[in-house]
Amino acid sequence: MKRIRAQLMNMVQGQRRFDVTIAGEINLDLILYGLPPHMPTERELLATGFKMTLGGSSAITAHNLALLGTRVGFATRVCDDEMGQFAMRRIGESGVDVSTSPGEREEGTGVTILLPHGAERHILTYPGTTAGLTCDDLPWTYLSASRHFHLSSLFLQSGLHAGLPELLRRLRSAGLTISLDTNDDPEDAWGGILHDVLGLIDVFLPNERELLRITGSDSLDKALVRMADTVPVIVVKCGSKGSVIQVDGRRQEVPGVRVTPVDTIGAGDSFNAGFLSAYLHGCSISEAARFGNVTGALSTLSFGGTEAWRNRQMRHRFFLENGAPDFILALSEPGGPAR
Ligand SMILES: Nc1ncnc2c1ncn2[C@@H]1O[C@H](COP(=O)(O)OP(=O)(O)OP(=O)(O)O)[C@@H](O)[C@H]1O
Ligand SMILES: [Mg+2]
Repeated sequence: MKRIRAQLMNMVQGQRRFDVTIAGEINLDLILYGLPPHMPTERELLATGFKMTLGGSSAITAHNLALLGTRVGFATRVCDDEMGQFAMRRIGESGVDVSTSPGEREEGTGVTILLPHGAERHILTYPGTTAGLTCDDLPWTYLSASRHFHLSSLFLQSGLHAGLPELLRRLRSAGLTISLDTNDDPEDAWGGILHDVLGLIDVFLPNERELLRITGSDSLDKALVRMADTVPVIVVKCGSKGSVIQVDGRRQEVPGVRVTPVDTIGAGDSFNAGFLSAYLHGCSISEAARFGNVTGALSTLSFGGTEAWRNRQMRHRFFLENGAPDFILALSEPGGPAR
């Protein structure tokens, strides 16, 4: 009852500084195309292409949300080296507010080296400053001046774990709704902090493989049954198939958009951006998932998780051809307020 009242206050006020705040990692993605899946040591292996772009699931989600007209506040711990400056410039260009995240000379900016091989890929990460962000670093007034809080990369952000359940409880009491995308667990343990926070979130955004690992299930059906009492809204990302939603135990498949991908890096984060923008605009969960499928597919049309988004014409044309909520079309049409 208290929570419903807090959320109503949140909607009525509508005056909060941000629609979404995100506390999370920012780094670079370095992508080498065309390497063989089997990579022997002591051999010179030649790639056919190389790209460098904004990385970090939290940063990609924030960047793309801002391009959808969502007011985003991003709290991070970034190294003030050349790579960190490149990443901060990129996220700043999208309109994300980064005013609480001054650069520091610390561990160095994290990098993820991605080697796509058809449908599969190697993902090699140096976390850099990623695990250095703690709940004590987070400015409470900034984070809570929002309607919604989103967390990505739960397992990589180990510095946050100590205070996270308490932080989420406080954000809920302040009337924010909360979403979580764990992404992969490098230790493949899927326990600990996850079970302390799952009961505190409103929307869970795993991919299919992650949900099977988390619930110890061999089918999506069983996994969703197991999670039904824990999280009211579950949105499962299923690659080219699209997504499956479960709302208060009721399930629906939401078909994906047909595309020919350059790569699928950041498709999950791009899905989250589309889903959350529509969800916060008051669309139904199935409409939001449908738009998530569109924004996930958009991301695959160029390299990395933000490059297709940065091309405003490509973005608008894709939204027109594949369907987007009216508020998004109005925003992104030529001459509209979108960046
Ligand atoms: N090949 C594809 N064709 C069409 N849509 C796709 C394709 N791959 C991804 N998508 C869209 O993007 C969404 C997210 O992709 P995916 O299921 O790969 O998430 P993920 O594994 O969490 O991604 P990430 O690697 O970014 O964490 C899908 O639910 C779908 O809507
Ligand atoms: Mg993901």
